[in-house]
Amino acid sequence: MSLAKEIKRRRTFGIVSHPDAGKTTLTEKLLLFGGAIQEAGAVKSNKIKKGATSDFMEIERQRGISVATSVLAFEYEGIKINILDTPGHKDFAEDTFRTLTAVDSVIVVIDVAKGVEEQTEKLVEVCRMRKIPMLVFINKMDREGKDAFELLDEIEQKLNLTVTPLSFPIGMGYDFKGIYNIWEKNINLFSGDSRKNIEETVEIDDLNDDFLEKVIGGKFAEELRENVELVTGVYPDFDQEAYLNAEQQPVFFGSALNNFGVRELLDAFVEIAPPPRPKQSEERLIKPNEKEFTGFVFKIHANMDPRHRDRLAFVKIVSGVFERNTPYLHVRHDKKLKFSSPNAFFAERKEIVDVSYPGDIVGLHDTGNFKIGDTLTEGESIHYKGIPAFSPEHFRYINNADPMKSKQLEKGIDQLMDEGVAQLFTLELNGRKVIGTVGALQYEVIQYRLEHEYGAKCTYEPLNVHKACWIEPKDPKSDEYKEFIRVKQRFLAKDKRGHMVFFADSPFTLQMTQQKYPNVKLHFVSEYK
Ligand code: G4P
Repeated sequence: MSLAKEIKRRRTFGIVSHPDAGKTTLTEKLLLFGGAIQEAGAVKSNKIKKGATSDFMEIERQRGISVATSVLAFEYEGIKINILDTPGHKDFAEDTFRTLTAVDSVIVVIDVAKGVEEQTEKLVEVCRMRKIPMLVFINKMDREGKDAFELLDEIEQKLNLTVTPLSFPIGMGYDFKGIYNIWEKNINLFSGDSRKNIEETVEIDDLNDDFLEKVIGGKFAEELRENVELVTGVYPDFDQEAYLNAEQQPVFFGSALNNFGVRELLDAFVEIAPPPRPKQSEERLIKPNEKEFTGFVFKIHANMDPRHRDRLAFVKIVSGVFERNTPYLHVRHDKKLKFSSPNAFFAERKEIVDVSYPGDIVGLHDTGNFKIGDTLTEGESIHYKGIPAFSPEHFRYINNADPMKSKQLEKGIDQLMDEGVAQLFTLELNGRKVIGTVGALQYEVIQYRLEHEYGAKCTYEPLNVHKACWIEPKDPKSDEYKEFIRVKQRFLAKDKRGHMVFFADSPFTLQMTQQKYPNVKLHFVSEYK
């Protein structure tokens, strides 16, 4: 098959949701439809169970699952689908943000009873800013929840989206009758039998036909007619261009647990969701159909087996064909590397592959060469953008608790930071090391992993920092900047790339500093240009 055909038949996407909305269940049902798994329960939830924060076996178990489910690939009607897993837990939000740099579209799952929740808001905002096409799936229609119109309003307002329902529920909860598919003009009747894979579909070309009464009863027929009239009157028609430009978001209703509405979602998805999209590098826009291979690392996973310390770097292929045993340029190191056993991912396993195409993810064994964000090419010096670090929310000094093991500690910290577990800062004044994280859970993970994987021990000390800001002086030689550096010396640190950051201890300090030094810009994201 030609490169163009391979590109056209690929869909690489992520499912984003607040924990518990049904992401794992939906993923599993999609895999069932694709024939990639045979039974429910095969996809393990990667969520951190409540109260498990100090249970390290639980953390290890989660990491194991997280490797296994990082990429789930399957074929559906000739289309190769790659689902990239995104952790829902807020402490791992950065992982999710980074994974979103490697998807070409997303499906947003919302719980009909809970509506728009905090994590959904954050993740959708990132997708909106990056102009990632989004489909919305409103889940758990078999339960009592919010009124469909009320929920659509909430989605528009809280998530700032322009929705257009492509299906509409008939009743809800106990009274849930099924779904009218506006897109295909038929009704799927809900049987409530979760074991059933095939739904009963009734074609309805004209909703005014008396036949509708026979199918769903008078009350629901009347209600459906009114609702569909309202939908067509209030919401814009589906416009694929607008969807692809992230200006319109089609909405589907269903119940993942009951396997209901999932086929409609999948069918619409393969038809309208984009194949691999071009990606901006610092130098130029790279198109997937360019002959030469390029790709970037968006995730690094340490091996769980203590006897094999190598890691797996996840590379999204942006253009060209990736081939096994071919030397590729590691742009940051300006060094050619060859990979003898690149992994491709399937529903429940990984396998060595000879060739991969744009949209695919390959897992490369790495002994410490890669950092998140690294670019691989056939020789051209390009740098993919868009994997920024965000200001952490928590900050602590890290101390060595075993002086005999300082080398191990250094190596461990270095590698964990490359994996993107947390960020390391070094204070300008005294060289002390500070670890910044998105959630408190990471400190336990780091301490545990340092001890078990590197044989090093650490302790933490509290540090009162509100935000870390990356500093951009208008003129590094100006008196204003010199004064800023002198006055703020105690609060300055370097990040791992050697970029200067300012630790603000409160929102007030931040505001005052910005007022006093207007020509020293403070950014909350490391990649601000
Ligand atoms: P997540 O990955 O987004 O965190 O959610 P997950 O799929 O694990 O689903 C969270 C809970 O919601 C699970 O129940 C799951 O069975 C349930 N669920 C998912 N889809 C539906 C649906 O369409 N209808 C109903 N009624 N429930 C749904 P749990 O009790 O937390 O877990 P489990 O013991 O059933 O696995």
